[in-house]
Amino acid sequence: MQAMERKEERGRCATGIEGLDSILGGGIPASNLVLVTGGCGTGKTTLALEFLIRGAQKGEKGLLVSTVEAPEKMLAGIPRFDFFDDKLLQDGRLQLVEAGQLAEKTGPVSSEKERGIKMVEEIEKIVSFGGLKRVVIDSISSFIPELGDEAAEAEILKKISRALYAAKCTGIVISDRMDASENAVADGVVVMSNHERRGDLLRTIQVIKMKGTSHSRSKYVIDLTSCGVLITPLLKGGI
Ligand SMILES: Nc1ncnc2c1ncn2[C@@H]1O[C@H](COP(=O)(O)OP(=O)(O)O)[C@@H](O)[C@H]1O
Ligand SMILES: [Mg+2]
Repeated sequence: MQAMERKEERGRCATGIEGLDSILGGGIPASNLVLVTGGCGTGKTTLALEFLIRGAQKGEKGLLVSTVEAPEKMLAGIPRFDFFDDKLLQDGRLQLVEAGQLAEKTGPVSSEKERGIKMVEEIEKIVSFGGLKRVVIDSISSFIPELGDEAAEAEILKKISRALYAAKCTGIVISDRMDASENAVADGVVVMSNHERRGDLLRTIQVIKMKGTSHSRSKYVIDLTSCGVLITPLLKGGI
């Protein structure tokens, strides 16, 4: 309880996704690093983008680090939210960077792990110089494609977590797989999945852990709509 109060003094980062904020009792404890995991098409990218856009709308600058495709393509690839405004990109409230661009800045390195650590330092610079409040990395699984080492990946995640905490910035890092060592490093873990019910394939969301707050651990149904991510309880009857 005391630990919870201490974290609450640090404040909350209200995601702006109403259902998620109410599951979390007001939002993500500020400066936490939250891992969002789940299979392909479960809505991870959409959720993370809404987190950035809602923040930017209220003046909390955000950065999208995209690792698989150009961030512009990522934005264009999902149906635009009604509330999205290009102005957010033009005035720098929403900033986009591709992992490859960060890798180019690191210079010669002796290992892929060192490259990863240096890329995180580049993110740290952008965050602290720009006074950013929200960061999304989509995804950590392909941040350093050649790494192929879970322990090194967890170490890079730890470095990201420390950097964001120091900069008072809240992070969502997407991971394509459930990895025990990554889960242990993250302050929060959110699992998104598919759930079949009477022939329909529903998308679900479940907060597995979130340091610094009590929260519901129930499974909720999510709807990806042009008004944003809508979250409703998964009624147990007739599953
Ligand atoms: N705002 C939206 N309205 C309706 N459908 C959407 C919206 N955003 C995304 N989708 C659909 O949901 C699918 C999966 O979303 P995405 O966030 O890309 O999943 P993931 O990142 O987990 O692979 C997209 O391919 C798209 O068809
Ligand atoms: Mg995605």
